Amino acid sequence: MPQELGSDTCPIKPFGLEVRFDLSRGLSPEDGATLRDLFYKHKLLLFRGQSLTREEQFGVLEHIGPVDRASSLDYVAPDDPVLGSRHLAFHSDMHFAPFPAEGVSLLALDVEEETTYTAFVDAAAAYRRLPEAVAQRIDGLKSVRAATPGVYEDELPYDLPEGMHSMERDAVMYHPETGEPIVYVARCSTSRLVGLDREDSSTLLHRLYDAIYDEAHMLKHWWRNGDLLIWDNLALQHARPNIEGITRRKLQRATIATHDQAAQIPASYISPVDVENWQVQEGAR
Ligand SMILES: [Fe+2]
Repeated sequence: MPQELGSDTCPIKPFGLEVRFDLSRGLSPEDGATLRDLFYKHKLLLFRGQSLTREEQFGVLEHIGPVDRASSLDYVAPDDPVLGSRHLAFHSDMHFAPFPAEGVSLLALDVEEETTYTAFVDAAAAYRRLPEAVAQRIDGLKSVRAATPGVYEDELPYDLPEGMHSMERDAVMYHPETGEPIVYVARCSTSRLVGLDREDSSTLLHRLYDAIYDEAHMLKHWWRNGDLLIWDNLALQHARPNIEGITRRKLQRATIATHDQAAQIPASYISPVDVENWQVQEGAR
């Protein structure tokens, strides 16, 4: 393993960077500054062969930004109490909150090697791929974002189920650190564009989804033990397939968040493990 972080790296296709470095040795201030630069430049970093306690994982992330030690989800596993084993459609964590976490990291503690993946798309790159006229049109528009369980690929209806928490937010987010424009809508949680009728909203959202979820620009990371991924939760969206039947998929989770995440979870939020309740609510409306 190299002595300096950043001296041995390899680009990941279609985006991201593999960094060869043993993080358990701790980071010098110079290494930490390089880590931060690489994170904001590449948006997704992969370190293989890592062995870190959760506290050590926090310590790595703290070189990028403040960490969230009060998270409600410390480990992602087929039987975890929040996500369970269901398919999760593309989303950024806490997209329905005023201040979503800036970064998320997962460390594979015990997985069936290369059996399951986490998929990523880059919504900042998607903005750059938009035709100029479309980019101009969405700049200044607001979207309605709902606190959905996130388990469906289907888009949300224009009118949300009664009682579902939602907020309006800019359809284009300017990254707080880099200033990059990001198409900040997601198929599983955006119901409509504010001020547009059903048809206009649907047509424009589909143009945005086509840009964001273009498979040619999608990354699938197949997990191996010791893999640590750190990604930009604002610019990237992530998803995973159904993992029912997978017995070993324990990922140690830690987030970079300037604002308290748990305090922003609305009381009406229904997590993926409780999604039947959401279906009941939906059917009852
Ligand atoms: Fe997530």
